[in-house]
Amino acid sequence: MALHAEVQNPAAQTARPMDRLAAMLSGDLGEVERLLAERAASPVATIPDLSSYLISAGGKRLRPILTLAAARAVGGRGGDAVAKLAAAVEFIHTATLLHDDVVDDSDLRRGKAAAKNVWGASASILVGDFLFARAFTLMTETRDLRILDILSRASCVIAEGEVRQLASLGKVDLPIPEYMAIVEAKTAALFEAAARAGACTATNDETISDAMGEYGRRLGRAFQIVDDLLDYGGLTSVIGKAVGDDFREGKLTLPVIYARESATGDDRKFWDRVMGEREQTESDLAHAIHLIRASGAADRTLEAANAEAAAAKAALARASRGAFHDELAGLADYCVSRAF
Ligand code: IPE
Ligand code: IPE
Ligand code: MG
Ligand code: MG
Repeated sequence: MALHAEVQNPAAQTARPMDRLAAMLSGDLGEVERLLAERAASPVATIPDLSSYLISAGGKRLRPILTLAAARAVGGRGGDAVAKLAAAVEFIHTATLLHDDVVDDSDLRRGKAAAKNVWGASASILVGDFLFARAFTLMTETRDLRILDILSRASCVIAEGEVRQLASLGKVDLPIPEYMAIVEAKTAALFEAAARAGACTATNDETISDAMGEYGRRLGRAFQIVDDLLDYGGLTSVIGKAVGDDFREGKLTLPVIYARESATGDDRKFWDRVMGEREQTESDLAHAIHLIRASGAADRTLEAANAEAAAAKAALARASRGAFHDELAGLADYCVSRAF
């Protein structure tokens, strides 16, 4: 089964489409990295210290790659404006990670101690605010109001998603549409905005930027669904995060919703105890992972992610068939196959 394969083969070559895209966009990405370092500067030392700690820890740079590739796919030629946009998108993402690790009380991010464990929760939140604001400075420099419109709306939706999720913690019977609405808001909104705004830098044709936005949205949904599966059996060395964070938090995600849905008797009682009452013992996470695999919930979750990736590719075909099309289609596969 899928996750067993990953456990046996941590060097799974799923990063390939990302590597190929990064190589094709190396000039643009170099400029984005330069901007991320330059614009994290501040005379208030904690700001560059904390920011560079997280930014230099790596991260896949998936969202800026999406922006740059979406622009190129519809005829863009790189340049200052799209690089600033891509850097702004990564700053927004970085800000949400700083906030999210406080909210989720996560200890590991990008393979390192979460910034909140080094500088404290207050500093993490405040530096997150700084990076959010910096993103908007960068966007105003593009002098493109459409970009500000897209990203400011997405920022509101992300915050709504995080608050909506907070309100649903411990809800064992979370309906799948509510789970998807949270995924859509907290994750897919930024993917959508990254792709749509990228396309907007290169075309005024709204049919094309809409289709690219839909590609990004579906990609984001696939990405988060798989991320939720990786929380139950990914490798810390690969995902750079602790396994079981969602479980400990009582956050209902698709693998658990599916596993609980088909559970009866003691298994159903198990889910209600660990997720609803949040009464957990040492061995409960291992048992949860076992149930998710044995009940077929892991496979069903992957199927759901695959359906999103297929929808992403269908939208992509409406946006572009030329340069970068194959790589962007490969990115949709990568978002699912990174679970293997
Ligand atoms: C983490 O995103 C937040 C989610 C939406 C799951 P990434 O997995 O893209 O994080 P980095 O940037 O590569 O660290
Ligand atoms: C991802 O949240 C979305 C945001 C950070 C806004 P999660 O809490 O699901 O992601 P990880 O697992 O911490 O990366
Ligand atoms: Mg989190
Ligand atoms: Mg979270």
